[in-house]
Amino acid sequence: MIGGRAIIRLDRVSSTMDIVDEYARAGAAEGLVVVAEEQSAGRGRTGRAWLAPPGSAILCSLLLRPTVPPDRLGALPLLLGVAVAEAIEAVADVTCQLKWPNDVLIERLKVAGILVQSRLKPRGIDFAIAGIGINVSTAAAALPPGATSIAIQTENAVSRETLLTELLGRIDQQYAQFIATDGRPSLDPWRRRAAMIGERVTVLQEQGELEGVFNGVDEVGRLLLDLGAGEKRALIHGELLRGPRST
Ligand code: BTN
Repeated sequence: MIGGRAIIRLDRVSSTMDIVDEYARAGAAEGLVVVAEEQSAGRGRTGRAWLAPPGSAILCSLLLRPTVPPDRLGALPLLLGVAVAEAIEAVADVTCQLKWPNDVLIERLKVAGILVQSRLKPRGIDFAIAGIGINVSTAAAALPPGATSIAIQTENAVSRETLLTELLGRIDQQYAQFIATDGRPSLDPWRRRAAMIGERVTVLQEQGELEGVFNGVDEVGRLLLDLGAGEKRALIHGELLRGPRST
């Protein structure tokens, strides 16, 4: 287990990311988890809001203090995605896929999202916060387009408590691999679950969009895109979309 486990449970917070950030800056030990019933300012990647009706989702953030070089942090979100997918499959009769970099899908719809924020120190990583949102019992009407919940996808009634226990156990396993390999774990478990590998995709980036064939990820989690005519890219950021955008 990551440095012992302190779990702080709160009813309503701005964002569990903010709470863990405060604890981290005050020197809290690795492994701290903050879980909330509701967030008033939940956030996702690229500044998007993350909304969930009270009590319908797992909303948690986990404090990590990885002792790996900062340029190896890229694999961490992918490992967390594997942990989330395994945990969901352990409690519900569903199959999860992973969409680069770290969305968890069921039947092509997003059931969970992961946000990793990190703070560096002069040499190395001070801390990283892994924020995870899983739609557990959320009704369709409360979800944005393209999203789903475990309850929509399966007959099984899923206990958030059981799912959280599974999740933290799986994260411990993935994180142990991350540390043991100095930040270069095998990403094959991620590749096996990856959506769209080998397909034509579009990657939206701040600078514009790129179209090509998605050739998987490299050893640090960068998206490998074959643009054709011998041109290849390894991308750190971006939003992956199925197919060319023009069709
Ligand atoms: C994404 O898919 O864009 C990432 C979503 C991450 C949402 C979780 S919910 C718990 C934690 N607190 C937040 O404000 N965000 C993360």
